[in-house]
Amino acid sequence: PLVTTKELLLDAQENGYAIGAFNVENMEMVQAVAAAAEELRSPVIMQTTPSTVKYADLEIFYANVKAAAEKMSVPIVIHLDHGSSFELAMRAYRAGYTSIMIDGSHGTWEENIAVSRAVVDACHPAKIPVEAELGKVGGKEDDLEAGDGNPYTDPIDAARFVELTEVDSLAVAIGTAHGVYKGTPKLDLDRLSEIRKKVSIPLVLHGTSGVPDETVRECIKRGICKVNYATDLRIAFTKGVRSVLDAEPGTIDPKKYNAAGREQVKQYVMEKIKVCQSCHRA
Ligand code: 13P
Ligand code: ZN
Ligand code: NA
Repeated sequence: PLVTTKELLLDAQENGYAIGAFNVENMEMVQAVAAAAEELRSPVIMQTTPSTVKYADLEIFYANVKAAAEKMSVPIVIHLDHGSSFELAMRAYRAGYTSIMIDGSHGTWEENIAVSRAVVDACHPAKIPVEAELGKVGGKEDDLEAGDGNPYTDPIDAARFVELTEVDSLAVAIGTAHGVYKGTPKLDLDRLSEIRKKVSIPLVLHGTSGVPDETVRECIKRGICKVNYATDLRIAFTKGVRSVLDAEPGTIDPKKYNAAGREQVKQYVMEKIKVCQSCHRA
């Protein structure tokens, strides 16, 4: 069934595992993530970015995830990823999204606090949890180019930010980047531990495609409770589609190549759910 992130992330935090959060961009990716979660008896988060909700509609993604979630026995969340404005966050809230990220990390400290606080005030009466971001995750996130300047999350600022905004989870910048890495990413794990010491709410890792599995496990040990994967799902889906079109260039039935994409995404998501150690938690 469809649930919020609140209990899922708190249980993950209490028991030292994480919930995988997978970006979905079409019906087949939704089905793939739901099937992977069900097979491994794991809770799971599906999320859509602003460019994805522009491609279709919040209502269409909500309906897809809701329908998939109702077929499954494991808890499934529909989350707005990198919500870029108060207005978009409210549209997601009204569409029925069960978890909302407001990403004010591109603005000033004051702007980030104001917009995050406003979304919290609007969402909490209905018990919809809110994720915010402090510091800047590198790389190209959605269609936005990450800015420069001091990018990493400061532990003391993080504690103050959480106190002032009362958000339910916090995305931290510790050296990950959205998209594909050129080499092996260097993460500031000590910084993560310092943030964990000062901040009691669940922490979120962004930009996880391309981060070695053992590094992700180390981050979970140090307090990460939600792990975001996007780029690798695109790669997996496209690989499946391409394999069919390469082998049979005459194929015109989208069901044929989309099914192959769906299967690749399912296999990938199952691998990452295992990295999160959330199997048999549902
Ligand atoms: P990747 O595309 O690097 O997996 O980043 C995912 C993400 O952070 C989504 O918010
Ligand atoms: Zn992200
Ligand atoms: Na990445």
